[in-house]
Amino acid sequence: MTSADTSPFDLTGRRILISGAAGGIGRATARLCAKQGAQLVLIDIVSKQQIREHVGADIADRAEIHSLDTGSRPDVTALAQHIGAVYALIDTAAIAPHDDWMAEDWEEALDRVIRANIKGPINLSRAFLPGMMQAGEGRVVLCGSVAGWMGGLRTGPHYAFSKGGIHAFVRWLSRQGAPHNVLVNGIAPGPVETAMTEGKGYDTSLYPLKRMAKPEEIAATAVFLCGAGSGYASGAIFDINGATHFH
Ligand SMILES: NC(=O)c1ccc[n+]([C@@H]2O[C@H](COP(=O)([O-])OP(=O)(O)OC[C@H]3O[C@@H](n4cnc5c(N)ncnc54)[C@H](O)[C@@H]3O)[C@@H](O)[C@H]2O)c1
Repeated sequence: MTSADTSPFDLTGRRILISGAAGGIGRATARLCAKQGAQLVLIDIVSKQQIREHVGADIADRAEIHSLDTGSRPDVTALAQHIGAVYALIDTAAIAPHDDWMAEDWEEALDRVIRANIKGPINLSRAFLPGMMQAGEGRVVLCGSVAGWMGGLRTGPHYAFSKGGIHAFVRWLSRQGAPHNVLVNGIAPGPVETAMTEGKGYDTSLYPLKRMAKPEEIAATAVFLCGAGSGYASGAIFDINGATHFH
């Protein structure tokens, strides 16, 4: 903590890149980070106009916005060269196709999931970690999932595989960052009310809290992980799953 008077969640003046910003958790994270005083760089694969509409004009007007596929290494590298260093990276971009893994053409879906859910976070980390290390401070927050621990409530094998990979990657990356005061952590949400879960048959009567999480309840942990209060958290995966799973 920098000072006893500073809020542990304060992000005043911190430049934070949020990927997947047009999504449910990304949008909520952008809004909460802005409320804590952060300067935002918002990216998503959808158009800039769609990012604006999803995040809200009040936040979008004060943010840098880029339409970009995080699975493309050249595009992510070009973005980093264009915008320069950021204090924190919060990656919420991912896909979770609902399909049949025995279908003949399933490999296409597997490739798409690996591109978005594995290559995306790796591309972003490779592009933005050096700037954080050079600055001698920084934060990386990646999204895992309860699926990465126990195989998932309603999701397929590609998604579970990718999220388990993210949990391992967070630990690996935390050891690269920690000596440079760059803290890398993950969040493993349970079921959250977003486009990713909509219409996929999640049965809330089966969950201990009898409801899914609100995106804001995941975003709050991302804010915490960028603030001074989490200054000794490194290599941890924060389970925000409403007691749906323990390990
Ligand atoms: N919703 C849940 O129940 C849940 C549970 C556990 C983990 N998660 C994880 O939380 C994160 C956010 O999920 P969400 O529920 O907000 O999903 P969402 O579908 O609402 O948002 C995901 C966003 O990522 C964007 N995106 C997808 N691929 C991209 C790419 N290649 N490049 C750039 N942007 C891309 C999408 O356009 C979308 O706006 C994801 O990592 C997801 O796996 C979600």
